[in-house]
Amino acid sequence: MKTVFILLTLFLVAFALDKNDFYTLEVVLKEDLSDVFKAEVEDDQKWLVPQFDGSFEWMTEQEAKDRTIKTEIIEEIKWARENFKYNKRKKVQFFLYTQKNPVKWQELDIDSPETLERSHFNASHPTRIFSHGWLGGAKSGQTVEIVDSHLSNGRKENYNMIVVDWSCWAMTANYYLARLRTRRAGKRTAELIDWLHEKTGMPFETTYVYGHSLGAHVAGFTGKQVTKGKIKTIIGLDSAMPLFRLKNPQNRLADTDAEYVESMHTNGQVLGFYNPIGHAAFYPNGGRSQPTCGFSPFDCAHGRAITYLAEAIARGVDNGFDTVTCNNFTDVKVRHCEGDSGGIRMADPENYKKARGIYFLKTDGKSPFGIGTDYLKR
Ligand SMILES: *[C@@H]1O[C@H](CO)[C@@H](O)[C@H](O)[C@H]1NC(C)=O
Ligand SMILES: *[C@@H]1O[C@H](CO)[C@@H](O)[C@H](O)[C@H]1NC(C)=O
Repeated sequence: MKTVFILLTLFLVAFALDKNDFYTLEVVLKEDLSDVFKAEVEDDQKWLVPQFDGSFEWMTEQEAKDRTIKTEIIEEIKWARENFKYNKRKKVQFFLYTQKNPVKWQELDIDSPETLERSHFNASHPTRIFSHGWLGGAKSGQTVEIVDSHLSNGRKENYNMIVVDWSCWAMTANYYLARLRTRRAGKRTAELIDWLHEKTGMPFETTYVYGHSLGAHVAGFTGKQVTKGKIKTIIGLDSAMPLFRLKNPQNRLADTDAEYVESMHTNGQVLGFYNPIGHAAFYPNGGRSQPTCGFSPFDCAHGRAITYLAEAIARGVDNGFDTVTCNNFTDVKVRHCEGDSGGIRMADPENYKKARGIYFLKTDGKSPFGIGTDYLKR
């Protein structure tokens, strides 16, 4: 009955849409419908689920799912119709930047091998892949921040910097839907990595995937679904928390998704995951709020993880994010961390070699954020 109702609505809405747009929407929504109906509800835990207007609603996963089936799919169609002009992407797309094209991307399309042949992709250079979060895209400021940090003027190291643009699915007013789609976005990204490996010999050894918020779970689902090797490093940047459970690593970024998984926590227990979920977990300023984020801390503290990574990459080896170790997660919560970390720095590309466990650090409230260990001596 529900399905009939929704299909009827789809049909009615069809008249209001441009033919091509409708075709794409229909494909996306069919996938959504089947995902939503199939989606398991793991338990009756309540969550603060973020809403499009910046507020939160306290609800169980079952409530989020029911609401999506009853009303939001239809709202989604209306919303997507109104917003389609801002979101022209019809599928997950991959954009390559290199030292030869640091500003203007080249699209890599698995269905058109010539896009790879004509591109500046070079398997001898390390590959870095970034996945944005809910409501993000290739042109979001924070995506650009990550790209620039790798390829900005004066940097000697070359990279294949690839942006995963999954805005076709992340651009939804419904957080629950976006969250369900992270698995599919990860699947597409895994296919890209396998394809690059087969076509160019790109080594998994030099391939890192970063993701912010929901994008961190896209990175996790990428790691779970690659078939030709194991990703070297994944960095989860304030990995989304709402509707992701510590006890179910199959449904979130987990330390089995890459040789080395690092988690950075900047808005823990609100938008971001608070518990450690990688081989190494970093808690700048305690991991819940960040300096100078003031009284509207959510987006600011949540986004700060991206800024920290961008700064760490741009600064290179001595990136300023020096740490101390914590014995356990309780010590993070009570701010009792003072172990010698042996020079481990947050977001250091070499961390896979020896960063393990839980780390605490302080930062400044403005750039440069990384302040070394001087504060320990004060
Ligand atoms: C790829 O990168 C390597 C190392 O920087 C360089 O020697 C080689 O010429 C590059 N290949 C192409 C086709 O540019
Ligand atoms: C955490 O480590 C501290 C020592 O730093 C110890 O006193 C405490 O019992 C530990 N807590 C747990 C839950 O293991």
